Amino acid sequence: MLRVLHLTDPHLFADKDGSLRGAVTHASLSSVLEHYRNNDWLADVVVVTGDLVQDDSWEAYDHFRVLLAELDLPVYCVPGNHDVLPLMRDALSEPPFFYCDYTERDNWLIIGLDSYVGDQAGGSVSSDELARLDQTIAESDAAHVMVCLHHPPVDMGSTWLDSVGLDNGDDVLDRMAASGKVRLAVSGHVHQAYDAEHDSIRIITTPSTCRQFAVGSDEFAVDDNPPAYRRIELHDDGNHETGLIWVEPAE
Ligand SMILES: [Fe+2]
Repeated sequence: MLRVLHLTDPHLFADKDGSLRGAVTHASLSSVLEHYRNNDWLADVVVVTGDLVQDDSWEAYDHFRVLLAELDLPVYCVPGNHDVLPLMRDALSEPPFFYCDYTERDNWLIIGLDSYVGDQAGGSVSSDELARLDQTIAESDAAHVMVCLHHPPVDMGSTWLDSVGLDNGDDVLDRMAASGKVRLAVSGHVHQAYDAEHDSIRIITTPSTCRQFAVGSDEFAVDDNPPAYRRIELHDDGNHETGLIWVEPAE
């Protein structure tokens, strides 16, 4: 079995005291990592689905590296709409970090897709990226695939969020389904939890390690849910289980 720790949308600043709508993002990511470390569920791989930084700074990426390197695990990352691609690629150019890369373990292929389009909150997966997905799956001996991308390929039922979703979500879903091997896709971006099957593929989103968006809201709105992370267990036979962990602030 392969255990995956899914973290998303940390929105770090150069200033460790920087806050996003009331959440000090460095402290809240630290609290999530501390919760993971203080429990006996141990991951084999970490997946981070974008929006690593909030203020376009190199220092924020450096904070991310320092915090995540402490886990002593491979960290697979894809960009979100708040990322700065040249900085992100540079910051994640060496192990334990991997940028839009893939790994094969225990009969599973985990692959990160780029859905960044630049200067807009919504996303799209290019035809080159979809071709890379097809090719990587075709060349892999793994029977099962988990895809990671920032923007989920389905609507959340939230008017404002769905207006900044994935442009070609249906194409991406079709392509994943056509492979016959993609079992699940995990995303961030929506700062809330979602878990449903579409075309036999389980689509999962995980709330942010900082502030969450109100579920089902027509207008932009945050809620009072705490930081979160997700545990994903991938079994050799293709079965998978996940558990969402909310990290309540210390009393
Ligand atoms: Fe985000």
